[in-house]
Amino acid sequence: MKHLSQEWLAELNLVPLWRQRTAGKDAGATTAPVVAPAPLPATQNNHLQGVHNRGYLPHLKAEGGIYFVTFRLADSLPQSALDELERSAPETRSKQIETYLDAGHGECCLRKPEIAQIVIQALKQFEGERYVLHDWVVMPNHVHLVIEPRGAHALSDILHSLKSYTATEANRSLSRHGAFWQHESYDRLIRGQAEFDRCVQYVRENPVRANLAVAPDQYTYGSAGFVAGKDAGATTGEVVAPASLPALAPDEIAQLDWPQLKHAAATCTACALHAQRTQAVFGVGDEQADWLFVGEAPGAEEDLQGEPFVGQAGKLLDNMLASIELKRGEKVYIANVVKCRPPGNRNPEPAEARACAPYLDRQIELMRPKLIVALGKVAAVRLLGRDASIASLRGQVLDYRGTPLIITYHPAYLLRSLTDKARAWEDLCFARETFQGLTKQASATI
Ligand code: URA
Repeated sequence: MKHLSQEWLAELNLVPLWRQRTAGKDAGATTAPVVAPAPLPATQNNHLQGVHNRGYLPHLKAEGGIYFVTFRLADSLPQSALDELERSAPETRSKQIETYLDAGHGECCLRKPEIAQIVIQALKQFEGERYVLHDWVVMPNHVHLVIEPRGAHALSDILHSLKSYTATEANRSLSRHGAFWQHESYDRLIRGQAEFDRCVQYVRENPVRANLAVAPDQYTYGSAGFVAGKDAGATTGEVVAPASLPALAPDEIAQLDWPQLKHAAATCTACALHAQRTQAVFGVGDEQADWLFVGEAPGAEEDLQGEPFVGQAGKLLDNMLASIELKRGEKVYIANVVKCRPPGNRNPEPAEARACAPYLDRQIELMRPKLIVALGKVAAVRLLGRDASIASLRGQVLDYRGTPLIITYHPAYLLRSLTDKARAWEDLCFARETFQGLTKQASATI
């Protein structure tokens, strides 16, 4: 749906009350003929002042108002995050929530085309009849609407039926039960043209801010890029997967800065793995880290959470780091050879590692770590550029384009092989000594 123009709104007699109320004062807000609204009883009038009900919907909302609404998946903000947000300053809280949501926490099942489609079709079902949808976007773990209830339809009723219907259908599609949406929705009455424009822009730009698209109209789960089949008026438009962008050439990737590189990886289509990913798993940690740990590829948990090594192997890696007084994110960066999950958690194919190589190479070039630790054979072979066994490579300071490189076992392998855990411990001690030696050397030459 394209954004409704002011003229079109007026023609359809859909001039919102705030425009009617402010007509004359707010020059240029609308050219529509203005019908003075009947005065509302004092109790309803309060809602017209745009009181933001601490995120909870009162049953009764002012008819004729336009609302900015957000509702989110049940697992998008865990209780720990909500508790933390509760302690933060109220004026920064909603911004923090948005940042948190855009980081893609939880399972993010609205990424799945069939689930997004359930929500979009439900939104479109009563569009025009029960409400005007000025703008909307279905993000991986939340939904934003700029919505104007019509006639006797209260916002709370609209949201209640939308959320309960989509929850039932999505749970059915996912073969599961339980809370799908968080109970509360956030809504705010929009009080003027400037605020309306800001909200619309916010909604349209959300996929771009979250690195899901390069431009609003590239994101098909939002009004800016939605394609409703051939019939523009259809209410059952087919959701088209976000458009594939042409893959960047390695020499183009080699020029990118951090934000560009992250965006390029998030939208990369250079190998077949992109088709099945929930998201590309770029890397985590300090972008100026001294230590870089390189694994092979994201597994199921990493694919969902968007962070490397968050499953069982990740717990072991964190313990391995702690054993040499390192911590994820503090002077440490963790990345993988391949950024998208290979199906069934198989090893990445050599062709997939080759297709993804420019991303890791550029990460290392931008980061300039003092030491790289390759975790397992896939990472070792990729960084060394030759095949060899882990046993033959351990205990040496090797080289990746001038940066010292040490090889050890992959944590997932160590989960199964207790005997090699002791060897991995030796490797970590060796890495630590090497690092100290490098640091001393560097300070001696200053
Ligand atoms: N194994 C890896 O190599 N990388 C991950 O991110 C997770 C498991």
